[in-house]
Amino acid sequence: MGRKKISIIGAGNVGASCATWITAKELGDVVLVDRVQNLGKGKALDLMQAAPVLSSDITLVGSEGYEETAESDVVVITAGMPRKKDPVTGQWTSRNDLVKTNQEIVGQVSREVAKYSPNAVVIVVSNPLDAMCHVALAETGFPANRVIGQAGSLDTARYKAFLAMELGLSVRDIHAIVLGGHGDEMVPLPRHTSVAGIPIRELIAEEKLQAIIERTRKGGGEIVGLLGTSAYYAPAAGTVEMVETIVRDQKRVIPSAVYLKGQYGYENLFIGVPAVLGADGVEKVIEMQLNDEEKAMLEISAKAVRDVVGVLGY
Ligand code: NAI
Ligand code: 2OP
Repeated sequence: MGRKKISIIGAGNVGASCATWITAKELGDVVLVDRVQNLGKGKALDLMQAAPVLSSDITLVGSEGYEETAESDVVVITAGMPRKKDPVTGQWTSRNDLVKTNQEIVGQVSREVAKYSPNAVVIVVSNPLDAMCHVALAETGFPANRVIGQAGSLDTARYKAFLAMELGLSVRDIHAIVLGGHGDEMVPLPRHTSVAGIPIRELIAEEKLQAIIERTRKGGGEIVGLLGTSAYYAPAAGTVEMVETIVRDQKRVIPSAVYLKGQYGYENLFIGVPAVLGADGVEKVIEMQLNDEEKAMLEISAKAVRDVVGVLGY
């Protein structure tokens, strides 16, 4: 089996950070595409020069077009506008403010991906995430198992990081999951959160736990407030976790935006659920037993996603 080919569309903050982690983990050869002249080429060459230091035997190339991406195994779509802080008002754009602009960008990118890499697994990162997954599904015409959104990986990582920071414990022993859409209505699940199997509520006061849940929900905005643009290291790390399980066919369970066909009571909607990811993309959706409160929170999140998807006009 030869080396895997991974194309990243959008060589900005998230795309270039994905390429960096992929190089460090030696996951496959990378094509970095951006519409800005020489941006993909420059960053790919820079990372090629990092590869010897990292002992990473992969190649990276950059491009403005899609010919180089032909027959990719995995395509990561990060092209699009990020959230920004308005320098005058200090307000930051919500993920949903980006919907029309990014629909056009993700639509155009998806058609090129389908043309050049008809067998690829596509990981969507562009926001508003769940809605952009609908765009990629419609515009590639791919089966739903080969279009997956990155959100749960990042949102769960943020939740785990905040818990580890509060408890002063290793992140390695924190087990947790965040479901739902990639918005402030996302659904962290404290009943399914543990430290080495010990239920989280035995280790932390309820008030602190609720504050961490709220901070997780607003985690994207917190970074926009600090940087003036949206996060990229953790989003890229979350994306590359998904790339790795697919190219190495690891069948890890990663909360991912998946097109539901009846699971959890939802039809034809992308939303974050635990998914087994492997060489075929989404190989299985795991249906957790949620209680009434958790189901109600998931419904609020699903409604928020449906409202944005409604704007797309599909
Ligand atoms: P960025 O502005 O740094 O990079 C975006 C890149 O896309 C730019 O280099 C731009 O030239 C390129 N681009 C735009 N239109 C293109 C097209 N038609 N073809 C090829 N390239 C094109 O933005 P950043 O920070 O990398 O964010 C990218 C997207 O990812 C945004 O929509 C952002 O909201 C989203 N995001 C999603 C996260 C998630 O968890 N799902 C987390 C962080 C960001
Ligand atoms: C984030 O959660 C903006 O979706 C991006 O950081």
